[in-house]
Amino acid sequence: LTPKDLQGRRILVSAGPTHEDLDPVRFLTNRSTGKMGYALAQMARRRGADVCLVSGPSSLAAPLGVERLMVRSALEMQQVLLERFPETDALLMAAAVSDYRPASFAGQKIKRGGDEMIVRLTHNPDILQSLSSLKTRQVMVGFAAETEDIYTHARQKLERKHLDLIVANDVKALNSGFAVDTNQVTIIHRSGQVEPLPLLSKAAAADRVLDRLVALLDAPLVR
Ligand code: PMT
Repeated sequence: LTPKDLQGRRILVSAGPTHEDLDPVRFLTNRSTGKMGYALAQMARRRGADVCLVSGPSSLAAPLGVERLMVRSALEMQQVLLERFPETDALLMAAAVSDYRPASFAGQKIKRGGDEMIVRLTHNPDILQSLSSLKTRQVMVGFAAETEDIYTHARQKLERKHLDLIVANDVKALNSGFAVDTNQVTIIHRSGQVEPLPLLSKAAAADRVLDRLVALLDAPLVR
C-alpha cells in the first residue's frame, strides 16, 4: 500500500527538454524525454501530494490527477515556475534545461548558403538559481546530468544553486539517464551525505528521492 506521506503538500516538478528555436523549423534541444520527471510527478501524486508538472515538449501522457503545464523554451519554463514557486512546498527539477539558446530567432526559414554556417548562442538564465533567491520554506531538489567526475560536479551544482538535495545522474552509464525506463542515481545531501542507489526503474528511483523529500519537509525549518 502506498503511504500518503505527501498528503497536503504542494509539489512542483519540472520534466523534459527545452526547445530553443532558431527559425520556424529548427531548434536546439537535448535527449530528455520527460520520463524521470513524469515518474516523480506520478509517484508524488500517489503519495497524496498536490502536483503541478511543468513539462517541456514530451510525448508522454500527463499522469492521472496531476496538473500539467506544457512549455517550450527555457524562458517559458522559467516564467511558469516563477509563477508557481511561491505557493509550493517543494520543487523537483528533473528538466534538462538548455543552457544556451540561439542569440536571435530568424522569422523565416534560414536558406542553405555557403559551406559553413555559424550560429550565435546566448546564455539562458539558470532557473534553479533564480528560484533559490525567492526561497522561503521551499525544499529544492535538483538533478545533475554528468558524464565525468560525477560527485564533484554534482556537489558544485548543489552549492551554486543553493539546493537541499541533488540527484546525480551518470548519463553515460548503461540503462541510465536519458530516454530509458531505468536510472542509476546518487542522492547527495547538503550535509555531505552521499547515497548511491542501485539501477532502479524510474518510478522506484522517484520513490527513493521522495522518501528523502518527506524527511526534509517534516524536519524543522533550520535552513
Ligand atoms: O527525461 P529523461 O529522458 O527521463 O531523462 C532524465 C534526465 C537525464 C534528463 C534527468 O534524470 C536529469 O538528469 N535531469 C537534469 C538534466 C540537467 O539539465 O542537468 P544539469 O546538470 O545540466 O543541470 C543541473 C540542474 O539545474 C537541473 O536540475 C536542471 O534542471 C537545472 N538547470 C539547468 C540549466 C538551467 N539553465 N537552469 C536550471 O535550472
